[in-house]
Amino acid sequence: MESALVENMLYDVERYRQDFPILQREVKGHPLVYLDNAATTQKPQSVIKALTDYYSLYNANIHRGIHSLAEEATAAYEATRDAAKDFLGAASREEIIFTRGTTEGINLVAYTWGMQNLKAGDEVIVSGMEHHSNTVPWQIACEHTGAKLRVIPVTDAGELDMEAFSSLLSEKTKLVSVVHVSNAFGTVNPVEEIIRKAHTVGALVMVDGAQSTVHLTINVQELDCDFFACSSHKVYGPTGVGVLYGKKKLLEAMPVFQGGGEMIKEVCFEKTTYNDLPYKYEAGTPNIADTIAFKAALDYVQTLGRERIRLYEEDLLAYATDTIGSLDGIRILAAKSKTYQRSVVCCRRRTSTGSGHFAR
Ligand SMILES: Cc1ncc(COP(=O)(O)O)c(C=O)c1O
Repeated sequence: MESALVENMLYDVERYRQDFPILQREVKGHPLVYLDNAATTQKPQSVIKALTDYYSLYNANIHRGIHSLAEEATAAYEATRDAAKDFLGAASREEIIFTRGTTEGINLVAYTWGMQNLKAGDEVIVSGMEHHSNTVPWQIACEHTGAKLRVIPVTDAGELDMEAFSSLLSEKTKLVSVVHVSNAFGTVNPVEEIIRKAHTVGALVMVDGAQSTVHLTINVQELDCDFFACSSHKVYGPTGVGVLYGKKKLLEAMPVFQGGGEMIKEVCFEKTTYNDLPYKYEAGTPNIADTIAFKAALDYVQTLGRERIRLYEEDLLAYATDTIGSLDGIRILAAKSKTYQRSVVCCRRRTSTGSGHFAR
């Protein structure tokens, strides 16, 4: 790696590679170079240690025991909620619901808010660049309620057609659910503009932050989104845990998602009353170990500095775009988009055996 990438090196890459045990192994005789972060990220030692510390030192259920281990486990679990609140810029910890990941966060909103509020004649808008996790839950909600799913088209440049979006918006629109950063193209969508426009017709906006949370500094209050979902495993944390952010007044008004321990206040056969936020949406024993270790991942990113990570990625993207772009048989789609903060890289190499796909 010569060039700008080295000259502007914001990090000692070798030093940071040491933080990841998996990067010490070789694959086919070469040091491991891992470029599949959009699918899942590798884990630094601090995350692995947090996970094993829980099981080695204070394994206990949370929110229900009065012994020392239960108190330690509860405190560590709730510390992740505070860290996630700060990481996403939420106003209060009640707005941070732990889920299994982005998919469950979106399903939670579709099955609760969607089933309660949508009806025939209403419309839900998604875009043509959504992950299935942000399409299928809304299809299901529309099938159940009679609402209609509308789709923002994607331009050849790999960007949302914002004119088409404006013309799709109407008083029928009840919710817009869009991906912040595309897992296929890397496009950073203008969610601020989408949120502002959707709010003018009274629609709510859900942001799929699965890919953005690790790359951008997120502030849900500044974005003014109504819901935001992300996954720990895309931010160097463990699998099986994620966060759903929702504005408090919306979360309070929505019906419960799953029933069972922790989400109840009082249970009677005649009537059960539900717990306050955020526990109202956290039925059953949660994924305690992974949630605790998720904090170590958020701390790791904060220590590196999100702005420094972003600048380094900009350099890496420029290097990859120039280098890969000069190879035969490669077409880079929507590279160096002028519209948004970051450009898009999506390379498809056709070979006699099929096509490969490389995306941030
Ligand atoms: C944009 C986007 N949304 C949603 C998801 C689903 O995330 P998870 O599988 O962690 O629930 C992904 C996963 O790749 C994604 O890239």
